[in-house]
Amino acid sequence: METKDDNPKQIRAPLVTVCGHVDHGKTSILDILRGTSIQEKEAGGITQKISFTKLPKERILERAESLLTKFKIPLEIPGFLFIDTPGHAAFTNLRKRGGSLADLAVLVIDINEGIKPQTAEVLSILRMNKTPFVIALNKIDNVSGWKTSESKLILDSINKQGLNVKQDFDEKLFTIIGALQNHKIDPELYMNISDFTKNIAIVPCSAKTGEGIEELITVLCALSQKFLKERLEIGEVGKGIVLELKKDKAMNHLEAILYDGEIKVGDEIAIASLGEMQIGKIRGLEEALPLNKGFETRENSLAASGVKLQINIKENISAGMPFSVIKNNIDELKEEFEKEISEEIRVDPSGIVAKADSLGSLEALMILLRQSHINVSRAEIGPITKTDLVFASSLPEEERIIVGFNISDSDISLEEKSGIKIICEEVVYKLIEEVEKYRMEKRTEIERKKLESLPSLVKINILDFVFRNSNPAIFGVKIEGGILKREIELINSLDKKIGRVKAIQHDKNSVEKAEKGKEVAISIPGVNFERELQIEENLFSNISEFQFRQFKENKDLLTSEEKSVLQEIASIKRKINVTWGA
Ligand code: GTP
Ligand code: MG
Repeated sequence: METKDDNPKQIRAPLVTVCGHVDHGKTSILDILRGTSIQEKEAGGITQKISFTKLPKERILERAESLLTKFKIPLEIPGFLFIDTPGHAAFTNLRKRGGSLADLAVLVIDINEGIKPQTAEVLSILRMNKTPFVIALNKIDNVSGWKTSESKLILDSINKQGLNVKQDFDEKLFTIIGALQNHKIDPELYMNISDFTKNIAIVPCSAKTGEGIEELITVLCALSQKFLKERLEIGEVGKGIVLELKKDKAMNHLEAILYDGEIKVGDEIAIASLGEMQIGKIRGLEEALPLNKGFETRENSLAASGVKLQINIKENISAGMPFSVIKNNIDELKEEFEKEISEEIRVDPSGIVAKADSLGSLEALMILLRQSHINVSRAEIGPITKTDLVFASSLPEEERIIVGFNISDSDISLEEKSGIKIICEEVVYKLIEEVEKYRMEKRTEIERKKLESLPSLVKINILDFVFRNSNPAIFGVKIEGGILKREIELINSLDKKIGRVKAIQHDKNSVEKAEKGKEVAISIPGVNFERELQIEENLFSNISEFQFRQFKENKDLLTSEEKSVLQEIASIKRKINVTWGA
């Protein structure tokens, strides 16, 4: 049994997340490592939630002793705690202060499929958290003609493939390396790397034949022992992250990962929350057995381990929240948790609403939204609620958006959604794309509306038909550019106000407007034709400087003809006032 002895330098098992695009083989790789067949038992072969697997030292030796010996790597870690994730999304749940909960990650890429959207997202989250990782280039058995070596080592088989097979493999490999380089990482086949701080190791493998799996384990051992030892030293205080919560009347049952220190039944623990920090006592403790052989009731558990805790806290506890054993440090913890949460979930004075299923995914969502310059004014964990809708409806039109990462909007009726754009996705990039697209459409719509409230831009030419001299003056005009509308005010080319168009007649019918090329009769009260107007003279719509600027700001929405009318109006105005509209 593991207990914490007096040696303060005791190191724990590294936490290794297995992440990557759906179906690329994450669960299968873990299956072959632990000798299980969980993948086959999953509903639809799809991993639904985060799970952990302890791979003890003995098992590592069983799988990789000869290679560890060959590369002269003495095994010092007590094992690995692997975390299987459903695609990338839940993987983002796994964070702790200052980065990722995982010490290391295995990014699984199907060699035949390459970088997919979820792979890309995982890459950016790994980079963001500075998590060291290894690429398992899986399903090499699917490379047509591939011959598996007897030793199940890529080292032995990679240069013994037929010419065409090797060519095919290399082509796929180089395409993937190129794509990864575009994501600003520099990968290389693990056996060609001399400095693991410079390159990301690629281990080609197959979860089907087992080829390359020993090498994957060996690389993970080497990396952990070379770069992570300090990080792996077990501290004094038990610390963990909540993965999942099951409630009954009086108790919360938590599934959690203990990543540091030790916890015991009877320990008082503090759990962070978006509101008040929660405090409770551990009433029951179970620890995950190695190789997914279920849970065992325990009095204590030492990091790193997967645990189930019974805690007498009735309040809601959110997934992803950090917890810590209390050791006369309540005030410190309170400050630490508050700081952590306010740092991660800092909102802007204006912006959209962001919702996610856990603290970690909310944080990842916020960071990626900010990178795309999308502000957030409300950020919460949990499903979309009526309060969110009410909040969103009070926002400016183009920010009336609620994004949901890893949550569904199925509980909201269409009626409630009215006027609010709800976007729920499991990939943040898709969310961002949708937000950007929606905003663009909305902006154009809003601007068009703004333009509609402005006077129409028009240039007309007075024809040789004067039906009435005054009260009102009625005469024929031709529309030279833009649209003539009722009620617009006209000026002449010396910026003299002529009056408002009271009525427009076309073919003896009253019309509201007339477009370019049309000849119509217009009536203008308050003007005397003989004294103030001339046949063949041009008239223009009158606009203010403010309106001119609005047109200019939205000039993309104007036709080229309207633009040239606008220019003519401005030059008339500038003859009188040189700085007009500037
Ligand atoms: P999610 O949990 O749904 O994201 O998928 P996953 O990444 O865990 O993939 P999973 O292990 O469920 O594998 C998906 C499919 O690929 C299954 O049908 C596996 O049998 C198959 N598969 C996994 N690894 C290999 C491999 O190395 N070679 C071949 N030929 N098939 C594989
Ligand atoms: Mg899976």
